[in-house]
Amino acid sequence: MTKTLTILKRLYAKSASQLSMRTGLSLNKPAYICAKMTMRCNSRCAHCNIWKMDFYPTELSTDDWFRILRELRSWLGRFRMVFTGGEALLRNEMCDILAHAVRLGIRVELLSNGIMLDAALAARVVATGIDQVTISFDGVTPEVHDRFRGKTGFHAATKAAILSLAEERRKQGRLLRILLKTVISTNNLHEITAVALWAKEQKLEVQYQPIEQNYGEEPSPDWYRHSPFWITDVASLRKEISALTQIKERGGGVIANTAGDFDFFLSYFEKPETMMSAIQSHDNKVRKTSCPHAVGNFVMESNGDVRMCFRMEPIGNVSRTSPVTIWRERPRCWAGPCDYR
Ligand SMILES: C[S@@+](CC[C@H](N)C(=O)[O-])C[C@H]1O[C@@H](n2cnc3c(N)ncnc32)[C@H](O)[C@@H]1O
Ligand code: SF4
Repeated sequence: MTKTLTILKRLYAKSASQLSMRTGLSLNKPAYICAKMTMRCNSRCAHCNIWKMDFYPTELSTDDWFRILRELRSWLGRFRMVFTGGEALLRNEMCDILAHAVRLGIRVELLSNGIMLDAALAARVVATGIDQVTISFDGVTPEVHDRFRGKTGFHAATKAAILSLAEERRKQGRLLRILLKTVISTNNLHEITAVALWAKEQKLEVQYQPIEQNYGEEPSPDWYRHSPFWITDVASLRKEISALTQIKERGGGVIANTAGDFDFFLSYFEKPETMMSAIQSHDNKVRKTSCPHAVGNFVMESNGDVRMCFRMEPIGNVSRTSPVTIWRERPRCWAGPCDYR
């Protein structure tokens, strides 16, 4: 019964979004809700500029987040959201915020680089009862992962974190989903299949995502022409993707991407100009719609600013205005052509 209700709710939400897209009206609720808890970061990634920021916005307090989560819950009913950053676990009270969200009946994903997740913290994170922990994992060897993440020892720490999470899941008898997130680039092309095989061995899942322009960099339409991580050897990528497809077809649910995602990645590296918007919105269906970014994004930044699209100015701030008001009053950018396409 609950399952049927969930399916019906999803179908309703999907058609409300599609109707909003077609009519230019705002008939839907957010489909993707994300909270960037801090923009501070303990990594030195080569593909992301967040750690280089010289100014960090003021962070909302734990009490602010408790209130905002309550407001979201009373507006949306049961919903799913992602907590990320920067590195969310740099906030000391992160587990309290996760546990609070779970108590409210929110389905929660934590996205982290895993560096700080020693056995004790892994136990606390699992004990919060969240649904999913996603850990960025870019290669099976320290050479590949650490080169990308910028510091020796990160691979060992992240791998240990993943194993601690899996062990705690077992010990605490939780239904926690542990997902590895791997960014495909020239740095790790030769290891992406090995990541899937390792995930399978550990009874985990992996989701791939292609390299984009460095996060936090001034958007440039031809960034990929100068990026050392951009894959031009599409034949090799095709070979790797064919190996991943075989692993996927053998079953076991290790690879979270769809076959459509993989076709899409190949087209992206072959014809980046036409695929960039859909990749940046992390939705391979976006290219079929009139707006390059999802009509349903509600991304809260560490200071409470809310964005529906990373290129647009914030549409409000949840420390001053309730989420529902911000949503109702947001600009209906999808009603016309996108300024950033
Ligand atoms: C911005 S990070 C925040 C969470 C956490 N700090 C981490 O690294 O997992 C979220 C995800 O974005 C990915 N990412 C960062 N820069 C990227 C880029 N230029 N292209 C594709 N993915 C990127 C990271 O690898 C990570 O999986
Ligand atoms: S990808 Fe994550 S860990 Fe790396 S710099 Fe960006 S925010 Fe930090």
